[in-house]
Amino acid sequence: MTEIETRVLRPDAAGIAEAARLLGAGALVSFPTETVYGLGGDARDSVAVARIFDAKGRPHFNPLIVHVPDLDAARRFADISGPVEALAKHFWPGPLTLVAPLAEGHGLSPLVTAGLDTVALRVPAHPAAQDVLRVFDGPVAAPSANPSGRISPTTAAHVLAGLAGKVDAVLDAGPCPVGLESTIVGGTPLALLRPGGLAQEDIERVVGPLKTAGDTITAPGQLASHYAPNAAIRLNANAAHPGEVLLGFGPMQSDLNLSVTGDLIEAAAHLFDHLHTLDAMDRPIAVAPIPNCGLGRAINDRLRRAAAPRT
Ligand code: TXA
Ligand code: MG
Repeated sequence: MTEIETRVLRPDAAGIAEAARLLGAGALVSFPTETVYGLGGDARDSVAVARIFDAKGRPHFNPLIVHVPDLDAARRFADISGPVEALAKHFWPGPLTLVAPLAEGHGLSPLVTAGLDTVALRVPAHPAAQDVLRVFDGPVAAPSANPSGRISPTTAAHVLAGLAGKVDAVLDAGPCPVGLESTIVGGTPLALLRPGGLAQEDIERVVGPLKTAGDTITAPGQLASHYAPNAAIRLNANAAHPGEVLLGFGPMQSDLNLSVTGDLIEAAAHLFDHLHTLDAMDRPIAVAPIPNCGLGRAINDRLRRAAAPRT
């Protein structure tokens, strides 16, 4: 990815307005939450979301947390009811992320949910995060603002040390008070999916005992079946065999193309949509070779899972 100049914004009215404008233009903005600094992009814009993965250098498309200003906004994207709703009412805004079924007409990029039928939603309490989310008035996908495999950032300086040149702006509002990522809860029965800034005991006082990861819970990114289309998939195909549909990459004849110009960010943005469209054609899918660099590693990881033998 070409290096860009990373601007530092102040959390005053002008800085917040600029952060919101940048998000609306598809740019990446790092902003503070009470847990850690997030690397934010418009969660409805697949190219912006692909750029998040690219900036972090993530080798996998893990589903991302979508940030909204309040429970009413969250309801536009997920069906929130039962114990999940009780937790939302009790702990939002705060360091708790809730996983719930996607709502009809949610409009989120399939790259945010990694093709799952649920979404992780968070209402941060930090005033600067609240301000950005209210002025932007849309869902913001934001993993922690650090390169993949590195320590999560709790100051703007940490963000710049890891991501200067890869993010359009950092909103600097000082250190994050919690310093630990949000706790993630979801599923039926309700389970603790990631320990974090809100204690399990506090959650259990509201909804009773949570199921915990006795290794019965697998991170969604690791579950091959979540990404498997119905159709058989053949990788590294240079042409379709009779009966197959071809998912192309770069200038070539194909049924659908991830990126005619061979742009890996554009390819990532199209990946889940194109797989869904081709799967609906009920024919085996052949996929052109994708270079194994940059976002190509995450694309190939996902394609390998999709092509793996079904159990
Ligand atoms: O404190 C935080 O939560 C920070 C700040 C920036 O808000 N954000 C953060 O986001 O840690 P992220 O995207 O790195 O967290 C993603 C986690 C992953 O572990 C993923 O497995 C889980 O959320 N997740 C996302 N969507 C999910 C889903 N539909 N089902 C289960 N887990 C999900
Ligand atoms: Mg992280």
